[in-house]
Amino acid sequence: QAALPEGYTVRPLRENDYERGFLKVLEVLTEVGTQTKEQWLERFNYLKQHNHEYFTIAICNEHENRIVAAGTIFVERKFVHNNGLVGHIEDIAVDANQQGKKLGLRIIEALKYIGAKKGCYKVILDCSAKNIPFYEKCGFTQKEYEMAWYV
Ligand code: ACO
Repeated sequence: QAALPEGYTVRPLRENDYERGFLKVLEVLTEVGTQTKEQWLERFNYLKQHNHEYFTIAICNEHENRIVAAGTIFVERKFVHNNGLVGHIEDIAVDANQQGKKLGLRIIEALKYIGAKKGCYKVILDCSAKNIPFYEKCGFTQKEYEMAWYV
């Protein structure tokens, strides 16, 4: 397992990570929006009520009390593979100033561990071509193609 730098911890998302800049970290991915605390709580509480299938983890810089990296695994329940479970990794984000410190790798290791513990027979994700080397370093291999339809 990759070691975290001194003063960093990896742990499940917390309600007051809103104040610790969790949404700011996601801005490296895409447009996040301007959620109020109330909107944040609506989504946070939904995920909490579904914590048998949604797991969002965060890395916190404890000295600065600030979130620096995050990621989610969603456990899908199938009929195939004998009611098999598939883990979907989503929204892996490392603060722009904190990339290259193995935080992304540490997030993926933690999410793979959760997926395996929950009984998933595989864990999959979609990524851009430029991130393929990163996910290969995390133990993933390229399969199939991603398709999208925008409403
Ligand atoms: N090309 C080649 N190698 C890479 C790349 C890359 N683009 N990114 C990381 N690596 C390598 C590192 O060099 C390192 O290799 P090493 O172990 O030989 O030293 C290894 O992968 C692990 O790298 P980390 O330091 O853990 O990478 P980082 O913490 O920067 O996280 C991430 C990588 C998540 C892609 C980060 O750069 C990021 O947040 N980027 C912007 C948002 C993004 O693209 N997120 C992923 C979207 S896909 C999804 O969410 C499913």
